Amino acid sequence: MEVVLCQDASDAACRAVDAVEALLREKPDAVLGLPTGSTPLLMYGELARRCAAGTLSLAKASTFNLDEYIGLPEGHPGSYAAYMKRNLIDKTDLRISHAFLPAGRAKDLEAASREYEDRIRTAGGIDLQILGIGLNGHIGFNEPGSSLKSRTRVKTLSSATLAANIKDFDGAEPPTMALTMGIATILEARRILLIATGASKADAVREMAEGPLSANCPASALQLHEKTAVLADPSAASLLKNKDYYQRSQALQARLKGA
Ligand code: PGA
Repeated sequence: MEVVLCQDASDAACRAVDAVEALLREKPDAVLGLPTGSTPLLMYGELARRCAAGTLSLAKASTFNLDEYIGLPEGHPGSYAAYMKRNLIDKTDLRISHAFLPAGRAKDLEAASREYEDRIRTAGGIDLQILGIGLNGHIGFNEPGSSLKSRTRVKTLSSATLAANIKDFDGAEPPTMALTMGIATILEARRILLIATGASKADAVREMAEGPLSANCPASALQLHEKTAVLADPSAASLLKNKDYYQRSQALQARLKGA
């Protein structure tokens, strides 16, 4: 796992968008895996900015979101479908027919989970998966204890996640269950970028990058992926033990690229 020490949260967002831009230049119909939450908002802002400036186009791309709540009515502002419409679809040239989320309103959630996996496969698999990380080390809604071989399925949200999600529901109870890509689904992406910002994520980032591989920190499963980079701001990186090594490696890589 490559750890990239970023100057601040905007730098992390720009580096993520640089990767999206480079991929789309090479493959305009690329398949992106996308997160929701507070962390990626800067990244969506930068994607919208570059789309408006004409340096990047999502017109031929497809996107698959990591997760969606179960049981929210269509168009509910707290749903991830509404989040994606607000933050990406309305602000870029991404076609709504190419923006997929797990069907949290489906009657048969098991069938909907299988269909989501099939749809990803039919699209050719995910070229670049972007992730955030939960306070408890979750990726998607794969809470601690999730099988490292899990696929898209229903998950019960942990108390830590419910507490973190209250802010999106105007004081009302947030949904307690979600459909989420599994850890094995995420690990099949060709490349993975995880963005972590803020001091509240420092413990989870250390566990993920330097702790043992464990279902107790689902993000530690990324240690099994060959092409994963973590974009961390100074606060999120503050508890890493091997920070000097990451710094040195980053400087040498930059020198190699510049050479
Ligand atoms: P956050 O959520 O970006 O709102 O902190 C991240 C996550 O739960 O994956």
